[in-house]
Amino acid sequence: MPLISTHGLGKRYGRQVALEALDLSVEAGEVLCLLGANGAGKTTTLNLLLGFLAPSSGEARIDGRNVHQDPEAARAVLGYLPEVVQLYPLLTGIETLRYFIDLSGRPCPAQAELQAMLDRVGLQRDAHDRAVGQYSKGMRQKLGLAIALSKGARALLLDEPLSGLDPKAANELVALVRALAAEGHAILAVTHDIFRAQQMADRIGIMRQGRLIEMLDPRNMSASEIEALYVHHLRDLA
Ligand SMILES: Nc1ncnc2c1ncn2[C@@H]1O[C@H](COP(=O)(O)OP(=O)(O)O)[C@@H](O)[C@H]1O
Ligand SMILES: [Mg+2]
Repeated sequence: MPLISTHGLGKRYGRQVALEALDLSVEAGEVLCLLGANGAGKTTTLNLLLGFLAPSSGEARIDGRNVHQDPEAARAVLGYLPEVVQLYPLLTGIETLRYFIDLSGRPCPAQAELQAMLDRVGLQRDAHDRAVGQYSKGMRQKLGLAIALSKGARALLLDEPLSGLDPKAANELVALVRALAAEGHAILAVTHDIFRAQQMADRIGIMRQGRLIEMLDPRNMSASEIEALYVHHLRDLA
């Protein structure tokens, strides 16, 4: 059973169609990237999977649980990395992780275990005790992923995880996402970055005006071939 799936998922606002009959699935071990211009329906897709929006048609499932009907069960295995990870600037990385674990009501792990959780996402040791207000975007994302993983999330939704990252941070994020997939997570990422999507994804979906219009296997294509196809699909768009 796929960890993330949608079946005929749609969202309308009056006559405006934000998402139309979306069928997709992401298995454990897999990374799916969705590409699409502004207004393509990417954020709507993530918000429906998160249960932030009610679908107009169809359904979204996380680990087989219907997100709309059974939101708590679905969210229990779901991790979400928003484009901007909101953190308390004065807390350190370790304190932030401890804070979120406390908030969830789980017993707090020992210091060494918290450090290991930050090591796992590649947050360097000298940052663990630094205030997160001084973190770069890449560091905030690593911490955000550590928080998601700390609750046992197996399905991960990433909204524009690469925007604003320098090349080194982007490389590290791609490597981290691949490592998480190799550990058995299912990852759905929305991005504008064709080059990184090609490195990161097992499949790339191209969305346009609320519809998934093509699914690509990036291993058989170069980034420039993917870009040419993408530009071709986006022609005629205002
Ligand atoms: N709350 C809303 N009310 C009306 N239209 C909306 C609303 N949210 C999104 N839309 C429309 O739905 C379409 C898809 O939006 P969105 O999912 O945000 O696209 P993307 O994230 O790919 O840029 C757009 O045309 C957008 O204007
Ligand atoms: Mg969006």
